[in-house]
Amino acid sequence: MAAVANARTIDFMAFPSGRSPRGDFENSTATALLRRTKSRCRLRACKPKRKISLPEAEEEAKMVSFVLNGKQVSARSEDSTPLLWVIRDEMKLTGTKFGCGAALCGACTVHVNGQPARSCSTPLSAAAGKRITTIEGIGQTREGRVLQEAWVANDVSQCGYCQPGQIMSAAALLAKVKRPTDAEIESAMNGNVCRCGTYNRISLAVRQASRNLK
Ligand code: FES
Ligand code: FES
Repeated sequence: MAAVANARTIDFMAFPSGRSPRGDFENSTATALLRRTKSRCRLRACKPKRKISLPEAEEEAKMVSFVLNGKQVSARSEDSTPLLWVIRDEMKLTGTKFGCGAALCGACTVHVNGQPARSCSTPLSAAAGKRITTIEGIGQTREGRVLQEAWVANDVSQCGYCQPGQIMSAAALLAKVKRPTDAEIESAMNGNVCRCGTYNRISLAVRQASRNLK
């Protein structure tokens, strides 16, 4: 508004009638001035800037950033919060399950930079700057995709509660060893408990997925 008022004031001071007795020349000068002032205004002074208050800036500085299933995210939870709860409650990805809460059952398994990790016992601070993959993102990998197909083909799941963790452990194994032996499969899957006892079908599915890996 100030810019408009200034240009008008110039125009009316020069030509009180509102019309230029000297034709379009003066009017075009005033219009050019108005345009220039408006464009300067658009360039800097009048551009609204997002103001960050001090508490907000402090909070942003405290946030922990990492890549979750290929997307950059930031978490507000305390550094010591188990990654499991950050993934489930803050990021709203509920495929990763809570079982024992003590790194004993494998239900909460995710990948941290490609390595299997028990998210119930991994603090958020350990995820800073890392790549975290959950059951929701594992299908984007070759191993994850063939495993999910083999899981369906072998009708592995019963109640299903432990299965996200089982697939995450199997995917970490196949990413490392394309053709694992039975002993290697047993060893890699050893920490994943299934109360429904689907172990035979899990083993069949992992072997089938291994064969289907190109
Ligand atoms: S809930 Fe994490 S290992 Fe059991
Ligand atoms: S399928 Fe039920 S606990 Fe594994």
